[in-house]
Amino acid sequence: MKKTFRNITGTFDILPEKYRADGTEIASSAAWQAVEAVIREVMARFHAQEIRTPILEPTELIARGVGLLTDIVSKEMFAFERGDTHYVLRPELTAPVMRAYLQHHLDQRGGVQKLYYIGPCFRAERPQKGRYRQFHQFGGEVIGSEDPRADAEVIAMMTAVYRAFGLTEMTLRLNTLGDEGSRPRYREALQAYFRPYAADLSETSRRRLETNPLRILDTKDERERRLLAEAPRLIEYVDEESRAHYETLKGLLGDLGIPFLEDPFLVRGLDYYTRTAFELESPHLGAQSALGGGGRYDLLARELGSKKPVPAVGFAAGIERLFMALAAQGVTMPEAAPPPDVFLVALGDEAARWAFAEAQRLRDEGLRTALDLRGRSMKAQMREANRQGAPFTLIVGKDELERRQAVVKEMASGEQSEVPFEDLIRILRDKIAAGAS
Ligand code: HAM
Repeated sequence: MKKTFRNITGTFDILPEKYRADGTEIASSAAWQAVEAVIREVMARFHAQEIRTPILEPTELIARGVGLLTDIVSKEMFAFERGDTHYVLRPELTAPVMRAYLQHHLDQRGGVQKLYYIGPCFRAERPQKGRYRQFHQFGGEVIGSEDPRADAEVIAMMTAVYRAFGLTEMTLRLNTLGDEGSRPRYREALQAYFRPYAADLSETSRRRLETNPLRILDTKDERERRLLAEAPRLIEYVDEESRAHYETLKGLLGDLGIPFLEDPFLVRGLDYYTRTAFELESPHLGAQSALGGGGRYDLLARELGSKKPVPAVGFAAGIERLFMALAAQGVTMPEAAPPPDVFLVALGDEAARWAFAEAQRLRDEGLRTALDLRGRSMKAQMREANRQGAPFTLIVGKDELERRQAVVKEMASGEQSEVPFEDLIRILRDKIAAGAS
């Protein structure tokens, strides 16, 4: 027997109908389209414009952009080489978007650039509920403003998407990471604080103590969390200007009526942030509670070789997790694509040939048209029309062909009428419009 194949663990197929895989419901392609349409619509309200960047990027872009010591770069990259080129499947889009911004001199378009994206990302994490190896993000990046209004706008963009779906049960956590100097100073203070307790730390945290002590702040370990209560706070190491920026941002969020919770331990897992950092959490997601997150990354452009500093702030959010939140709060999306407007039923070879050509004419006129592709009996064709949920069938046999008329049957009432071929499109259109109203 030939070997059969399955998708790679941590990835999933999106099918016309929803289904369950590994205990999770995978929504239908129609539901994905509907969700993406809402995201696009909300982004348009902010006059953000779409950017599409390649799924393959130079490995060094991600390594430098996201940071060598981050989990993403040190453990989770799908990277490979061909010849002299090192490729990575993008784990996120902020570094790629900044690369594109610099490469194409998007600053020359004038003003602040507001860009959004929707697309797949790849991280070699251990798959579990809400955590995949190929997942989908939507996000927005506001590039070219250091004003806290840009930070507030980004948070407004993100939260507006969830509001558009009617989702309300979520918490926005907010923090400031200070400027370039704040984090190194804080790192040292954390190391000094934790070193005497090194023996009590988990193996991961002990390793992080030397490489990336800020990551200890994310710990879920109860004992470590108790230690954290007394640990130095980042805010004590934050410079005056960043503090003022943070205060203004909080005021702006207040003006917008966006509730938030200050979290002095929120640092996020990517290295490019300065000043603002935020995360949106849902109580419905279990261990992977982050719906989305982001922050300000004023130093990224310089890290990617720009001579000029380019202030920027953005967010990204997982679409799979958005679906989980929708399901948890009972928000329904369309389950399936709309049915055909009309199904052509043909009796006999000649009528079948006519129907096959007529279908093209109807489709060119914009009607969703379906027909039998297996030469089945008229009864089977009618059954298929019913199964597909077509509101109208157009029935043609030898007689009808000779008289150049078709029978138009309204499936719900069973009502039938004969329509001359030349009037078909007009009459069908009228009937479909009447049915839709
Ligand atoms: P991030 O926090 O790494 O940030 O990812 C953003 C969101 O993507 C997460 O909150 C989560 O919803 C989703 N996500 C991440 N990893 C997975 C996974 N393995 N499976 C399912 N969903 C996942 C960023 O990526 C930054 N680029 C955000 C940003 C934009 N910062 C500034 N601009």
